[in-house]
Amino acid sequence: MAELITDIASLRSRLSGVRKTGATIGFVPTMGALHAGHGALMDAAQLGCDFVVVSVFVNPIQFNNKEDFEKYARNLQTDLDFSSTHHVGVVFAPSQEEMYPAEQDTFVEVLKVSKGLCGEFRPGHFRGVATAVAKLFNIVQPDLAYFGEKDAQQLAVIRRMVQSLNIPVGIVPVPTVREPDGLALSSRNQRLTQEQRVHARLLFQALDAARISVMTGSRRISEIRGAGLKVLAGEPRISVEYFEIVDAENMQAVTDMSGRICIAAAIWLGSVRLIDNLSLPPRS
Ligand code: PAJ
Repeated sequence: MAELITDIASLRSRLSGVRKTGATIGFVPTMGALHAGHGALMDAAQLGCDFVVVSVFVNPIQFNNKEDFEKYARNLQTDLDFSSTHHVGVVFAPSQEEMYPAEQDTFVEVLKVSKGLCGEFRPGHFRGVATAVAKLFNIVQPDLAYFGEKDAQQLAVIRRMVQSLNIPVGIVPVPTVREPDGLALSSRNQRLTQEQRVHARLLFQALDAARISVMTGSRRISEIRGAGLKVLAGEPRISVEYFEIVDAENMQAVTDMSGRICIAAAIWLGSVRLIDNLSLPPRS
């Protein structure tokens, strides 16, 4: 059974005991509502480290939409049971007061990588993510921390933050876990109606169409975007927030297609926002 710890002091003392045995610590930060995507991160951490810590904290400062924060699924007991089946050592689930005892007035901003894509449509989001993850890194002090490629811009932001601030944590990316029809697992999928769930698969299909366009020789951004957008245009109940071709490292728009690129998109189905992306290796 994973051990539940809710305060920073107890976690620090538990982990200093773990470190004294010479064990390495792997860390998986989450906001709970755990699913097989989170499970893949826990399994990777289990393989790479001796002791796994998972945090469950719905971080208020990364939500720019109050309703999204309030509606976020919360069920600690289910998350604890789920973590136990993945051999997690400790689940750290602090209260808001524990993480933010006073108004947060120190922030981490990763300027370039946070520009565009989700950064453009969710102002302040990556500042909230980077600040919370920096705090969690200081609290847990892991050897390695695991992040999903599902949130490619978030992964890029964290990588850059660790590099720029000399944080001694290795960042390990984990491939996106998908449903059989391609839909990336997300806690927000629970909020889709049956009909929206059917339409949601078009997000992956659109990314795949853009990928195929590149694989079959397209080098013009407008043509590649067009191939993806055409798929999404087939369903009028989908509203496209963005569909972009960016550099996989800095998440900025590309003009030249030779490097590692990332095709990233965000769509709305009713009040549910879904994001996904596909990375493509450099072309010869
Ligand atoms: P959350 O959305 O709970 O995601 C936690 C981690 O799980 C992230 O690294 C995310 O990329 C990964 N993940 C989610 N769905 C996945 C999937 N289908 N396949 C693989 N990995 C997946 O991301 C956050 O929480 C927060 O922003 C956080 C980093 C915890 C900071 O508050």
